[in-house]
Amino acid sequence: MCGIVGYVGGQNALDVVITGLKRLEYRGYDSAGVALLADGGLAAAKKAGKLANLEKALADRPLPTGTTGIGHTRWATHGAPNDANAHPHLDNAGRVAVVHNGIIENFAELRAELTDRGHELLSETDTEVVSHLLAEAYSSAGDLAEAMRQVSRRLDGAFTLVAVSADAPDVVVAARRNSPLVVGVGDGENFLASDVAAFIAYTRDAIELGQDQVVELRRDAVTITDFDGNPGTFREYHVDWDASAAEKAGYDYFMLKEIAEQPKAVADTLLGRIDASGRLTLDEVRIDAHTLREIDKIVIVACGTAFHAGMIAKYAIEHWTRIPCETELASEFRYRDPILDPRTLVVAISQSGETMDTLMALRHAREQGSKVLAICNTNGSTIPRESDAVLYTHAGPEVAVASTKAFLTQLVACYLVALYLGQVRGTKWGDEIYTVVRELSDIAKQVDQVLETMEPVRELARSLKDKNTVLFLGRHVGYPVALEGALKLKELAYMHAEGFAAGELKHGPIALIEDDLPVVVVVPSPRGRSVLHDKIVSNIQEIRARGARTIVIAEEGDETVVPYADHLIRIPATPTLLQPLVATVPLQVFACELATARGNEVDQPRNLAKSVTVE
Ligand code: F6R
Repeated sequence: MCGIVGYVGGQNALDVVITGLKRLEYRGYDSAGVALLADGGLAAAKKAGKLANLEKALADRPLPTGTTGIGHTRWATHGAPNDANAHPHLDNAGRVAVVHNGIIENFAELRAELTDRGHELLSETDTEVVSHLLAEAYSSAGDLAEAMRQVSRRLDGAFTLVAVSADAPDVVVAARRNSPLVVGVGDGENFLASDVAAFIAYTRDAIELGQDQVVELRRDAVTITDFDGNPGTFREYHVDWDASAAEKAGYDYFMLKEIAEQPKAVADTLLGRIDASGRLTLDEVRIDAHTLREIDKIVIVACGTAFHAGMIAKYAIEHWTRIPCETELASEFRYRDPILDPRTLVVAISQSGETMDTLMALRHAREQGSKVLAICNTNGSTIPRESDAVLYTHAGPEVAVASTKAFLTQLVACYLVALYLGQVRGTKWGDEIYTVVRELSDIAKQVDQVLETMEPVRELARSLKDKNTVLFLGRHVGYPVALEGALKLKELAYMHAEGFAAGELKHGPIALIEDDLPVVVVVPSPRGRSVLHDKIVSNIQEIRARGARTIVIAEEGDETVVPYADHLIRIPATPTLLQPLVATVPLQVFACELATARGNEVDQPRNLAKSVTVE
């Protein structure tokens, strides 16, 4: 939510800041703005809408050139997405500029206080109070970092704040509480951003700030303190991917590129984690074997697509380890006073590692004494840092707002955790487990195989572009896949899409079926748990009898579905629990193509942002 960039160095700051904002636009695209220190003053520009609007405004009315600057791309929380509410926000003298990600919860009281002192606030945002408070604090402290510390101590809520002052040349200061901020360390230049993608074209050396810290950036110095001015502890690291990973590489959309990258993402996530004898080697799970053996409950917390991965994990964990497992929406979890204790393992799944609901859920779990294992794609983000252990998914940067490759790698990580728990606890490793481990090691090829057969799915999607509703049905692990297919379609195609457990059909949803209504059905393998298969084949017949247009996703060689499928999408045969890895891919392609056919912005769907850092 909101992307932030800061720069001080020898280059044209506007170029660096705009390059960074382009990489961060996935975080929010309601408005964009920049502030530069130039000619002894402060020059700012901001514009509602996408970054392109700001770039046009800057082309029409160029700003003076400077080598220190900050920038922002907004996902609106307080106040409509218009020019006035766009960041940066300046104090009344126009000497201090501030950009902000997060929510300042006590802004109303601070605003009243400032108004009483004669300040004139021009926007509806919570952010603007900070520029006024910072200008006041700076005039008495005479040091911008100290002023930022004083102001930060007065703020409630979650925030990353980045500021410059016309009276502090070559200095950028920032504060962080519960919201992402990383420093990029260059040679004679330094960077600040919500995400390393913003500065990866310039440096891969990064510093991850701790919570409640203030950083002062100069060309040759980075000074980090806590909010009281004591030296801060932080983590330095080297980013293991380069700028090309965050480019479209010839694809029209990041989403298309990320869908295509799934076989590699899956293979990378498995790499080095299963040895030649089929044993799991998850050294990253630093929770000792004794504790893992004592666990008597697992709770998975996550949001959105990651929640769907967690739902699938529940089936795998309970089946392979026999440990009771619940999967819960992180946003609901802590508010219902969940029963947790040191024998509960909480697994927090998050691509970004910054989702506030998930972060709050994991903090709540740790307060109750539970161990937390994070499954995360973003090195240096808050969720893994605050967890007892982390299993990274190696999907690489996911830029499109709709999650695809991160989902598949989350599934892989969940399977690894389930199998690893089985291994550590000595669950009987029967033939089934050996088959699963073998098939998992090989699954990237099957994902690739699915991708090669997607043209009919695209054609089908285009033919449905004028429909209003699409339903999705599944059973067992096919149910979360159905939910994921529906979520992808909602967020990308802006269509009414709902996923149901097929067994629930007769308890209500079947009333929705009408003539030619497209219904996507995820069919489990006819092998193994064939009872599931037979039941869903009956469900297909029931809806078809009522006029539904059936779009059936079924395993190669499953001939029983053929008579009832108006459209048949084939996927490779896999063990039942692994089927989501191949069954989800056609649904991603389907949603992406439908969105394109409807003229929607695939990478940046309306009203959304990739990283949801507010509750
Ligand atoms: C949907 C999507 C979201 C995220 C959710 C959690 O395509 O991307 O539903 O899955 O916001 O985000 P992370 O995984 O970053 O915690």
